[in-house]
Parts: sequence; structure tokens; C-alpha cells
Amino acid sequence: MQSKNKKIYNAAITGVGMYVPDKILDNKYFESIVDTNDEWIVSRTGIRERRVMENGATSDMAVYAIQDLFKTTKVKPEEIDVIIVATVTPDMFFPATACLVQEKIGATKAWGFDLSAACSGFLFALQTGASLIESGTYKKVIVVGSDKMTAITDYTDRNNCILFGDAASAVLLEPTEDLNYGIKDSLLYVDGSGKESLYMKGGGSLNPPSHETVDKKMHYIYQDGKAVFKVAVIGMADISFEIMKKNELKSEDVAYLVPHQANLRIIDATAKRMGISKDKVMINIDRYGNTTAATIPSCLTEYYRAGKIKKGDNLILSAFGAGYTWGAIYLTWSLD
Ligand code: COA
Repeated sequence: MQSKNKKIYNAAITGVGMYVPDKILDNKYFESIVDTNDEWIVSRTGIRERRVMENGATSDMAVYAIQDLFKTTKVKPEEIDVIIVATVTPDMFFPATACLVQEKIGATKAWGFDLSAACSGFLFALQTGASLIESGTYKKVIVVGSDKMTAITDYTDRNNCILFGDAASAVLLEPTEDLNYGIKDSLLYVDGSGKESLYMKGGGSLNPPSHETVDKKMHYIYQDGKAVFKVAVIGMADISFEIMKKNELKSEDVAYLVPHQANLRIIDATAKRMGISKDKVMINIDRYGNTTAATIPSCLTEYYRAGKIKKGDNLILSAFGAGYTWGAIYLTWSLD
């Protein structure tokens, strides 16, 4: 094991992949099912359309994203050591979605687990995966964020149904001995006092499934949007600024902010606090909405494939979500 002060390896992202289902729900569709309109949705959230997984579950989307990753790397499924699935919409309570993914991709030597941290899930999973690499014990870790949010969305609740979509996206982590690259720092927090503002109350041991829990719509996302918005703006802006300060990064040192995609106004406020211009902020909320654990890796995948991220670019990833959970990760991109 390496100590924090004597790092031998950094964990570097050496592959990316993603999957979004084909079916699109645009804002016009929501005008036909709830009292809303395109202008309100775009101006209040930045969302124009989102995707729905009609045939398949969270594990299927994760598998498609990982298969997409394999297509662009030389790595084979049987070389994977660990699979971490960040999700709040597992196929089932158990077995873990990671087990289902392991079997479907044929990762015969892997172990793995699910990680539940809502919209911060990818960041928490990325830091966990990085620690497994930095320890020197594991060489190939897949971190996949996959959420089928439409499975827990109440399509009669106009406050929330317009926000969420389905997607999955994966990264491969491998060790690099060149400490100029890879994941360099993280700041992660939880605060359970946020539990009443954003939750899905039914189905667990507190409120086991019953006719009553179904009648009371307890198997859907509940969100007090206004309350969450206020803390999310402060939480994401502060943590992003804090990690820059801690690492003595000026705004010109940061190539991109890679924010969780919950609301364009939260993203704008974060960029402003960091002193970063809009062209240095990764955005895909307009096309996919809030896909929970898949937002950050799907941004990385799309921008990398579009040739917009270069080796040596400093990125700040940041997120805020249910729990509350929030955090930021600082990394230097290592792929050509
Ligand atoms: N269409 C039209 N009007 C809507 C609407 C919709 N889809 N949803 C809500 N409204 C109405 C509200 O009922 C309210 O009307 P009222 O003033 O008559 O009560 C009005 O629009 C303003 O609502 P408000 O809640 O102030 O809007 P907002 O500016 O806060 O935006 C959210 C609402 C949900 C977009 C925003 O609060 C948000 O993004 N919250 C945080 C999301 C988040 O970050 N989650 C964490 C990670 S998942």
C-alpha cells in the first residue's frame, strides 16, 4: 500500500464509453401530459429533450456503455479487476447491478459492487475506484454511472417529470506512474439533513412495498425543487472553488468544468464562482436532462470524442445530489 505522501501511482482514465436509448421525449411531449411549456422548461432548466429506456434495465444500459468503451480500448472483459456501478435505480435491491453487469460483459475475473450516492454517484465511485488503483492492488477498474430515472419518475408531477432521463456512461481506470496525469485530488461530503428534500421513500426497510406505499406514490422521486436548488447552487459552486484553491489552480489553469447536469442555472452559477467562461463548461443537459450518475462521464465521453479534451488538460468535475451528497474531483487528462 502506498501512503498518501508517497504516491507511486495515480489512477488515470484510459477509456470512455456511453449509451443513451433511442427514444426521445421532447418538451412538446410534456406539454401534452402536464401543465407546462417548452419556454418554461428551457428557461428554468436548460433541458430540451431526454431519453427513455423502453426495453431493458439499468444493467443493460451499463453493459452497452461498457461495450462501447471496449470498442475504443484494447482491453478485454476478462482483464477487468473491479466493476463499480454508481446508480440509484438498480435492477433489483440484490443482487447488486455490478453482478449482473459482470456476467453480461463476461468479466470473468472481476469483483464489484453498487454505489449509491445519487447525482454525486459517479464522483464517489470514481474516487473509490482511484483508491483501489492507487493502492497498487488493482490494475483495471471500470466505473460506470447508469440510471434509469424514468423508472422512478411520476409523470403526473410537473415539478419533477420534466427533469430526468435515462443513460449510462463508463470510464476505465488504470495506474500511471507519471504523477503529472490522472486523478490528483478530491473533496467529497455527505449531509443527511438533506434527506427530507430529495428522496424515494418507499420500497426499503423503512417503508416496505405495500398497497399503501403505491397509493401514496412513495416509489417515485420526491423533490422539493426550490430547497434543493438553493443548496445545490451553493454546494456545487463552493466545492468547485475550494478544490481549485486547495490545488492553487487559477481559472486559466482549468481547461474544463465538468459539472453534474441537473439545471443549467446551477451550472452557470458554479462556472461564475470559478471565474470560468461558458465555453469551458461541458454541457449535455439540453439533450439528455438529468441522468443522475451518467451525467459527468457522458460529458467526458462526448467532449473527448469530439476532440475537445487534450492530453494534459486540467478538469474539475463537480456534483451535488440527494442525501445530500456533493463533491469535486481534480484530474489531468492522460489520453491522447
Ligand atoms: N412547468 C411550468 N411551471 C412549473 C413547472 C413546469 N414543469 N414546474 C413547476 N412550475 C411552477 C411552480 O409550480 C411554481 O409555480 P407557483 O409559483 O405558482 O407555485 C413556479 O413554476 C416556479 O417554481 P419554482 O420551484 O420557483 O421554480 P424554480 O426556478 O425553482 O425551478 C426546478 C424548478 C425544479 C427546475 C429547480 O428548482 C431545480 O432545478 N431544482 C434543483 C434540482 C437539482 O439540482 N437537484 C439535485 C440533483 S438531482
